[in-house]
Amino acid sequence: MPKVIFIDQDEKRHEIDAPTGLSVLEIAHRHDIDLEGACEGSLACSTCHVIVDPEWYELLQEATEDEEDMLDLAFGLTRTSRLGCQIIMTDELDGLVVRVPSVTRNMMIDKA
Ligand code: FES
Repeated sequence: MPKVIFIDQDEKRHEIDAPTGLSVLEIAHRHDIDLEGACEGSLACSTCHVIVDPEWYELLQEATEDEEDMLDLAFGLTRTSRLGCQIIMTDELDGLVVRVPSVTRNMMIDKA
């Protein structure tokens, strides 16, 4: 089974089994990684913001425009930021390294 490595706010590494087809957000929630995900993957918040290790960033599917729009609202945005709910595990992503940012915006964003 592929693995994801989460680096948490305290710089601790968590190497976790990551079943294919699950999002990074779902995997984080199953293992008590502190990643919020207020809208549960419906692209209506940016609280699932993760910073992808640059080596892995290029291997991900490109972000959709909706994801880009939400990412713009994330605190601490970086060049390799993505929304955790939009990264779906595949075998190719075995060993993926993502960092949980220390600051998130803790509220739902009303898109309307
Ligand atoms: S959980 Fe809200 S956009 Fe990912």
